[in-house]
Amino acid sequence: MSKIYMDHGATTKPDPEVVRAMLPYYEEYFGNASSLHSIGQEAAVALNRSRQQVADLVGAQPEEIIFTSGGTESDNLALKGIASLKKNSGKHIITSVIEHPAVLNTCKYLQDNGFKITYVPVDDQGLVNPVDVEDAITEDTILISIMHANNEIGTIQPIEEIGTLAHERGVLMHTDAVQSVGKIPVNVDDLSVDMLSISAHKIHGPKGVGALYVRKGTRLESLVQGGGHEMGKRAGTENIPGIVGLAKAAELAAQRLDDDASKMCSLRDSAIKKALESIPESYLNGHPTRRLPNNVHLRFSYVEGESLLMMLDMKGVAVSTGSACSSKSLEPSHVLAALGIPPEQIHGSLRITLGRENTMDEVDYVVESLVEIVEKLRAMSPITPKH
Ligand SMILES: Cc1ncc(COP(=O)(O)O)c(C=O)c1O
Repeated sequence: MSKIYMDHGATTKPDPEVVRAMLPYYEEYFGNASSLHSIGQEAAVALNRSRQQVADLVGAQPEEIIFTSGGTESDNLALKGIASLKKNSGKHIITSVIEHPAVLNTCKYLQDNGFKITYVPVDDQGLVNPVDVEDAITEDTILISIMHANNEIGTIQPIEEIGTLAHERGVLMHTDAVQSVGKIPVNVDDLSVDMLSISAHKIHGPKGVGALYVRKGTRLESLVQGGGHEMGKRAGTENIPGIVGLAKAAELAAQRLDDDASKMCSLRDSAIKKALESIPESYLNGHPTRRLPNNVHLRFSYVEGESLLMMLDMKGVAVSTGSACSSKSLEPSHVLAALGIPPEQIHGSLRITLGRENTMDEVDYVVESLVEIVEKLRAMSPITPKH
C-alpha cells in the first residue's frame, strides 16, 4: 500500500534537489568556513551564498540572517537575546496564548527569571485582536512576539498591524514564521518586524537547521558563548551542509510559492467542503479564510482523534491529532482550548496538513476514509446519541 503523507505541519520530505545540493558539502567541500585556506573558503562561499538565498525569501539583507539549529533555537534567541540585553530598560513581554511551545516555554523561563509576560487572548477562530496588544503595552514593554501563522489551526495573524503599532510605541516586534514561510508571501518590511524565525524542515529542507532574521541595528545577546560566528550572535562552527539545504529549500519555495499555494488552496477547500458536507456534526477549527493554504483542521463529535489517527494510519494515511510537537501529551491542545472548544470536542480534532506533492485523488481517498471511520467509531461509542 502506498502511503499518503498529509502531516506537513509536523515536517516535510526533503526535496531531492535539496539533498543533491547538500551532498557535496559532506563528501567534498567539508571545510570550516572560518579557515583561511582554500578548502575553508569554499565553505565560506557556500555560507555567504546561502545567507543571500535565505534573505531573498523574506525580503531581508544577507547580514540580517543568523543561522541556527531550527525554529526552536530561533525563537529562544529572539526572546532571551532581547530580554537579556534590555533587562535594565524593561522587563515586560507580550505574546499570545496560542504560541508554539518554543515561544510559550521560553516565556515561562523568562517569567521564572523575573520578567512579566502578558498573554493576549484569541477569538473563537484563533485571531489576535491588535487592540488587545496595544492595550497591553506599558512603559516596561521591551518585546512583542506573536506568531505569523499557527501550527495547529493555520490561522494567519494581522502581523502588519501589530508590527506597526509596536514600532509606534517604540517596542521591538518578533514573529515566529516557521509555518508561514514558503506557504504565503513573507516580507519582513511588509510585516514590520524586527525579528522573524524560520525552520528548514517545514519547507522541504533538512531537520536541525533554521534562521533568525534580525533587522539591521537590532542588538541582542548571544545564547551561546564561543567564537565570533554569525556576527557574534550565535557561536559555533556553521553546519554548512544543513545551511546549504535550507538555502536550496528557500530558493525552491520562492520559485514555487504561487503554484504551490494555489494548488494547496484548492485541495484544502475541497477537503473541507467534502468532509463537512458528508460527515454530520463535523466542524472546521480556525479561521475560514485567514488560514494557511495547506491547513485542514476538523473536529467530529463523539469520536477520539487518536482513534481516527490510528485507523487512518492503517489505511496508509499520515495525519496528526493536534500539534505535532505536543502529540505525545494527553493534555488537550492549548490552542483549541483558547478558541473556547470544549475538551471532549478538542479530543475529536484532526489536523491534515497538505504538501506540494499531494493530489486531489489523495484528498478524495482521505475524505472517503474519514467518512467511513467516523461512522464506525460513532457506532461503537457509548456517547453517540442513539436515534
Ligand atoms: C510555529 C512553530 N514554531 C517553532 C517550531 C519549532 O521548529 P523546529 O522544529 O525547527 O525547532 C515549530 C515546529 O513544529 C512550529 O510549528
